[in-house]
Amino acid sequence: MIVLRSVAELRAAVAAARGGQGRIGLVPTMGAFHDGHLSLMRRARELCDCVIVSLFVNPAQFTDPGDLARYPRDEALDATLAESAGADVLFAPEVRDVYPPGFSTHVEVLGVSAPLEGVVRGTGHFRGVATVVTKLFNMAQPDDAFFGQKDAQQALLVRRMVRDLDLPVRIEVCPTIREPDGLAMSSRNVLLLPDDRRRAPALARALTAVVDAVAAGERDATRALGAGAAVLRAAGIELEYFAAVSTDALEPVNVIAGETLIALAARFGRIRLIDNALVDPAVPRA
Ligand code: PAJ
Repeated sequence: MIVLRSVAELRAAVAAARGGQGRIGLVPTMGAFHDGHLSLMRRARELCDCVIVSLFVNPAQFTDPGDLARYPRDEALDATLAESAGADVLFAPEVRDVYPPGFSTHVEVLGVSAPLEGVVRGTGHFRGVATVVTKLFNMAQPDDAFFGQKDAQQALLVRRMVRDLDLPVRIEVCPTIREPDGLAMSSRNVLLLPDDRRRAPALARALTAVVDAVAAGERDATRALGAGAAVLRAAGIELEYFAAVSTDALEPVNVIAGETLIALAARFGRIRLIDNALVDPAVPRA
């Protein structure tokens, strides 16, 4: 694996891979790798001839400066992990190269960026994500790009943006990877205080309670969410949102009739965690 920092070097590496008709895969990340990130890299390795992992803690998507300052960083360890997962290139650009002086162009995906995370983090968050993902696509020119279902709203936004702007990249969304106790892997988990880390698996249990309620025939969204809310209350979780929304527009649903996203965000002191599950009454559980 090689580590590159400039777009010129990256383009040369992509051109060399393309020379052999190679398929280029991109895994955009902000580093602090865990098995969730590595699963995306392994999937890219399965499908692509050249696997590029970008590592860029994107200041534009942090609406809370404290969150940016606290964000865990360990590039040396990340490089080792990315290489072990099969990456060919670790692309780790500098902020000044991604956002040169006078930077003034943004990509905004209306609609799906507004609810859930858009409400809590503000419209700047997804504008920052959409802008940097567009830039990374232009830098690496991938055939395939890999995202995690863990960030369901982000994945939907990327799909919408690619469709709306005719970006020539295939998006693949990969399953959420969890700790043995169910907690969705996140770079922020290491920041949790021990007591919060012990309580955090209640998020996944609450989602399972909703999935179970729907599997048992519950179709009323409020009652299905109620089953999860009881789990969260028992664990003393400070919720930001816990919602049943449509998977295309992220609009709240009253009746769970088709595929529905159950999404939640909770706060543990200064640390926010998000998680989600898909339910579909028409599809029996595996
Ligand atoms: P980051 O939080 O580093 O996540 C990088 C990718 O890993 C995202 O697609 C995310 O959904 C995926 N991921 C995170 N946790 C996961 C888990 N437990 N299971 C499966 N996949 C998981 O998301 C971002 O970075 C940024 O917003 C980015 C897209 C890189 C733009 O800056």
